[in-house]
Amino acid sequence: MSLADGPNERRLVQIAPSLLSADFARLGEAVALAGRAGADMIHFDVMDGHFVPNITIGVPVLRSLARVSKLPIDVHLMIEQPERFVEAFVEAGAASVTVHAEATVHLHRVVHLIKSLGAKAGVALNPATPVTALEQIAGDVDYVLVMTVNPGFGGQTFIPRSESKVRAVRELLRREGSAAPIEVDGGIDVHTAPGIVAAGAGILVAGNAVFGSADPERAIRDLRAAAGAAVAR
Ligand code: DX5
Ligand code: ZN
Repeated sequence: MSLADGPNERRLVQIAPSLLSADFARLGEAVALAGRAGADMIHFDVMDGHFVPNITIGVPVLRSLARVSKLPIDVHLMIEQPERFVEAFVEAGAASVTVHAEATVHLHRVVHLIKSLGAKAGVALNPATPVTALEQIAGDVDYVLVMTVNPGFGGQTFIPRSESKVRAVRELLRREGSAAPIEVDGGIDVHTAPGIVAAGAGILVAGNAVFGSADPERAIRDLRAAAGAAVAR
C-alpha cells in the first residue's frame, strides 16, 4: 500500500481536517476543499458549554453538511452524557462518533449504542485521563482518540507528553488483539505530526494548521507528506 493510493484505499495515516477553524459561514466550501485536497474524513467538533468551556455546532449543521460531503464525517462529542444525542447525530449522517470517557458513567453502553446504530465508535481521553480508563473498553472500540490538547478550542499548543501516551494506548490495543487506529486531536501540524505518527497515531485531526493557513489545500497535502515520511521511517 502506498500513500498515493486512492481515497477508497485505507491509508496508513488518515487526515481529518477539523471544521472548528473554518469560517462557519462557509462550511460547505470547507468540506468541498477538504475533498479536493484528498482528506480522508471531516472532523466535526460538538461542544456543549458544560463539558468544555465553549459552544459550537450540532445536529442540524451536521445534517446539512452530510448531504453535500463526499467524505465521511467524524463527529467528536465534547458534551456531557453523550448517550442523549448519539442517535440524532448518527441519523443526521455521522460515520463515526467519539465520546469522552470523562463525560459518561455508561461508557460501555454508549459505545455499543453507537455501533448498533451502524456508525463507528471511538472513545476519547483528555490529556490528564490515564490510559487505564480504556482498559475495559479497548477491545470494543473502532478507534481511540487521544486528545493532544485540552479540548475546547482550536489553535492550542500540542502537549509533548502525548507521544508516550499514544505509545501506551497502542500497547494496550495490541494486548487486546485490536487493530483499532489511534486518532490524535489538538496542535497537530507539520512539526508535531512526525513524532506522533512515529508513536503510533493513524488519524491526524488538524484545524488551525489547515483552515488557519493561507492555502488550506496545500496545508492538507503538506501534513500528509510530513506524516508519510514518519511512517516510512
Ligand atoms: C479541540 C477540538 C479539535 C480542534 C483542534 O477541542 O477537539 O478538533 O479543532 O484544533 P487545532 O488543530 O487547531 O489544535
Ligand atoms: Zn476534535
